[in-house]
Amino acid sequence: MITYEQINEAADFLSICMPPEPVLGLILGSGLGRFADRIENSCVISYEEIPHFPISTVPGHAGCLVYGMLHGVAIMAFQGRFHYYEGYDVSQVTLPVRVMQRLGIKKLLVTNAAGGVNTQYVPGDLVLLSDQINLTGVNPLRGAHEDRLGPRFPDMSQVFCPRWRQKAAGIIGDLGMKVLEGVYAGLPGPSYETPAEIRYLRHIGADLVGMSTVHEVIAAQHAGMEVLGISCVTNMAAGVLEQRLSHDDVMEVADRIGERFCVVVEEIVRQISD
Ligand code: HPA
Repeated sequence: MITYEQINEAADFLSICMPPEPVLGLILGSGLGRFADRIENSCVISYEEIPHFPISTVPGHAGCLVYGMLHGVAIMAFQGRFHYYEGYDVSQVTLPVRVMQRLGIKKLLVTNAAGGVNTQYVPGDLVLLSDQINLTGVNPLRGAHEDRLGPRFPDMSQVFCPRWRQKAAGIIGDLGMKVLEGVYAGLPGPSYETPAEIRYLRHIGADLVGMSTVHEVIAAQHAGMEVLGISCVTNMAAGVLEQRLSHDDVMEVADRIGERFCVVVEEIVRQISD
């Protein structure tokens, strides 16, 4: 369980080497690892160096923080996230968000790889998140209340910022890509879902399914941040097609879409300063 003091220690460590007042935080999911290469005058800090940071255990998640400038915007990008299925406490999963909060970041862009529950999607689609369903059975705000981080009972009626999403939709459309929106269901994993679970998810209003993001978004909303979420559909969810799911296939599609995903995210960053 990460304490308020530990969050501050991590933030204090980073504030020594950060650009003044980072404006935007990014949590980069599968396929977007190379995005950090675009950051200018970048400084890379391995998670091992940051006090109280766990070390990411998933292949394809590098585990470092990259900060610097992109199109005049001071950003910090978390390359590799902490998944609940790795065995971390949910307060460790949300530690990057809390550190960003302490560093004054008000805008957070989260990305992930997801299975397509909505049968209109195809692998390779990028989907703007309109809402989420936390089915992990845990809430990152559970426990002793810390007033300095946010309210005890925060509103969650608009976890993804509608204005920012609309702007991102315009950018995606201008790039000649399909503009899609959907609801992300976060499950604990690490097994993929059964076809019956996917039918259930569709029934309760999910368009996408994945094993990340929901806790980070709850913490960010609690922290008063504006959040934009983008999923890359790496596969159709279980039972949609005659196929078996494998992490290798998911990673391969994520890598294939990576370049296009990077272009979209870079353009979103560029337009933040407009
Ligand atoms: N299910 C859960 N998580 C995922 C999937 C999926 O089908 N694809 C990528 N992440």
